[in-house]
Amino acid sequence: MDRIRIVGGHALNGTIPISGAKNATLPLMIASLLTEQTLILDNVPRLADVSLLQRILGNHGVDIMVGGKRPGETVDHGQTLHISAANIVDTTAPYELVSKMRASFWVLAPLVARMGEARVSMPGGCAIGTRPVDLLIMAMARLGADIEIDSGYVVARAPHGLRGAEIVFPKVTVGGTHTVIMAASLANGTTLIENAAREPEIVDVADCLNKMGARISGAGTRRIVVEGVAKLNGARHAVLPDRIETGTYAMAVAMAGGDILLQNTRPQLLQAALDVLTRTGVAVTATNQGIRIARNGGGLAPVEVTTAPFPDFPTDLQAQLMALMTRADGTSHIVETVFENRFMHVQELARLGARIQLDGEKATIEGVERLKGAPVMATDLRASVSLVIAALAAEGETIVNRVYHLDRGFERLEEKLGRCGAAIERLSG
Ligand code: EPZ
Repeated sequence: MDRIRIVGGHALNGTIPISGAKNATLPLMIASLLTEQTLILDNVPRLADVSLLQRILGNHGVDIMVGGKRPGETVDHGQTLHISAANIVDTTAPYELVSKMRASFWVLAPLVARMGEARVSMPGGCAIGTRPVDLLIMAMARLGADIEIDSGYVVARAPHGLRGAEIVFPKVTVGGTHTVIMAASLANGTTLIENAAREPEIVDVADCLNKMGARISGAGTRRIVVEGVAKLNGARHAVLPDRIETGTYAMAVAMAGGDILLQNTRPQLLQAALDVLTRTGVAVTATNQGIRIARNGGGLAPVEVTTAPFPDFPTDLQAQLMALMTRADGTSHIVETVFENRFMHVQELARLGARIQLDGEKATIEGVERLKGAPVMATDLRASVSLVIAALAAEGETIVNRVYHLDRGFERLEEKLGRCGAAIERLSG
């Protein structure tokens, strides 16, 4: 199993290109199931989760061709996928595959919408909490699917098609909102979603579906309206920049010090996180090439932050901010309201010398003078990368084990940081 070795104490200077967003790529690939024509996706990141979803979709009969490099393109350009779901041969998503990646549960909606049935394994719990799918099932039932739970599988049937409905989510859910906009695009009649997720990835998927002929309005607001159409077409769409990767590298520079241009990304995707960084004393500047982050010399002010759905501070940056606050000049508080129990990084940060107290959903982080390198490991990708951030400022050597978590969501992390001056290397085997 690969590990990453980091020797702390080196500032970061230069440019980091930001990849396409993992959490838009996955639902966009799944949206290909809605049409028999080819969907072409550009700016797709090279990630383990993308390869895994390729396998999962392959199991349904989807054919995916990865485009070759065009002249002048480097590895910093994303990949192009040509995805054809002309022949769906199987509407079952088995436990062995769904249990490896929760987002694969989302195939349920397009399969039922287009094929009239699907049998998808319940995903089960994971390292960041129980993560139920009750709201996704409720939404499919509201759209007219007959739902049965059979031996750990959700079996959904709508042989005569889905019908538009009014769906009010009691809690903001990204997966629930993706599910409804995909299913409702091919339903009979109009669907109204109240309390929809407003994440930029929802807007990106809605934009792509509209290019495919869907009629979705209001994406990015709490209220989305989808007028069903009989058929969707192929389209070409470039995945939006990864706001979580952007925020992660912004915090890495804040931690290590230095001056970095985060290229091919935009501040509007993560304004709440950039505002928090500004409050810590880091210089954040929007440029026409991306976002410049600089910290030269000065200390880090502590902050009070509560995670919440977009446009608030994202849960997917909570672990990274916590790592940063371990070196603040004072005590910070972070409240996690999206997932219960998303604090698995706390014990590992403590191994590096962090002082963090947990009380339910609230973490109190007392800034320390220094962190000291140690072997660490984490159980999910954002937790893993928080350890990388801490290691950049720790004295001596840190070995981050279980690098496969990082490979699920961060493209060529060691190369991107290494090119900017970090002492970081991958140890194979
Ligand atoms: C998406 O997960 C992301 N995954 C997560 O990214 C992200 O942390 C999360 O949204 C919140 O922003 C992808 O986009 C692939 P939710 P999702 O449904 O859709 C509860 C990462 O590190 N809930 O918005 O699964 C749920 O338990 C990841 O890249 C129900 O109660 O999250 C949670 O408390 C991990 N019932 C809250 O809603 C349901 O049926 C929000 O979850 C569904 C959700």
